[in-house]
Amino acid sequence: MSAPRLRWLRAPHPTARQTLDALYAGEVLHAPPTAASRALVDAARAALRAALGDEPRRAHARLSAAAFFEAIGRLRRELYLGEPFHALTRGCMEALGFSRERFAFDPARLRVISHDGHLTPAAAPVYYPHRDVWYGHPACLVTWWVPLDDLEERETFVFYPEELSRPVPNDSEVFDYDEWTRRGWDLKIGWQDVESGLRARYPQHLGPPPRVEEGVGFSCARADNLLFAGAHFHQTRPQSLGTTRFSLDFRVVEVGDHAAGRGAPRVDDRSVGDAVGDYVPAGAVTWER
Ligand SMILES: [Fe+2]
Repeated sequence: MSAPRLRWLRAPHPTARQTLDALYAGEVLHAPPTAASRALVDAARAALRAALGDEPRRAHARLSAAAFFEAIGRLRRELYLGEPFHALTRGCMEALGFSRERFAFDPARLRVISHDGHLTPAAAPVYYPHRDVWYGHPACLVTWWVPLDDLEERETFVFYPEELSRPVPNDSEVFDYDEWTRRGWDLKIGWQDVESGLRARYPQHLGPPPRVEEGVGFSCARADNLLFAGAHFHQTRPQSLGTTRFSLDFRVVEVGDHAAGRGAPRVDDRSVGDAVGDYVPAGAVTWER
């Protein structure tokens, strides 16, 4: 595979406009924790401990699969819908210069990468190489990823930066946002239904899979801020380390860019529908569903 490799940005540019343009061009912003991202992570970790007990990363060994699954489902709902978590998310955005008024966001999802999770058929979609935009998001989508623990490179995910600007074979046309959310938001929030990974159609890369060793990986510290274009082709690493990896991610859209069709290259996304209609306006306080 030929260059370009990934360009890392260690701090935001002076303006959000410059930062967004850099992200659309494929740079990945890996910024250290802010007070706001620490507050978000502290709240999420407290919720995890309340639900799973001490040492949540080892809870899978103490609980039945059903009990673990059920607790994670409740947590995911609380994180995604809870106004306190929306406020903490807004704080993360403001701390890196993303002013409230011009942005909307898809709230934080708790991601759970289990020890040996890749061996569970229902969890297969978690490990698909993909672009986030294949799920009904626009080209200007910025994915904001925050780890709940210090993580080694082998516990995170990889980017395939060469693929940002060239099509990869995929079946993103199977994804219809309106159909996906037609019976409520359980599938969207995730893990409410243990079999959903087997029944729902999620977009997949087609053909020989990329080799994870050829991707660009990274290690990180708890509450780091990792921002990247949702158009980046990337893939979660399977892990068999005996612990669960927990992270949060939320998605951000600059509303003017969305209206203008601005953003990262949109080279092969054929998903149907527009998730942005259900995003939370970053300046608004009340939002319920
Ligand atoms: Fe993703």
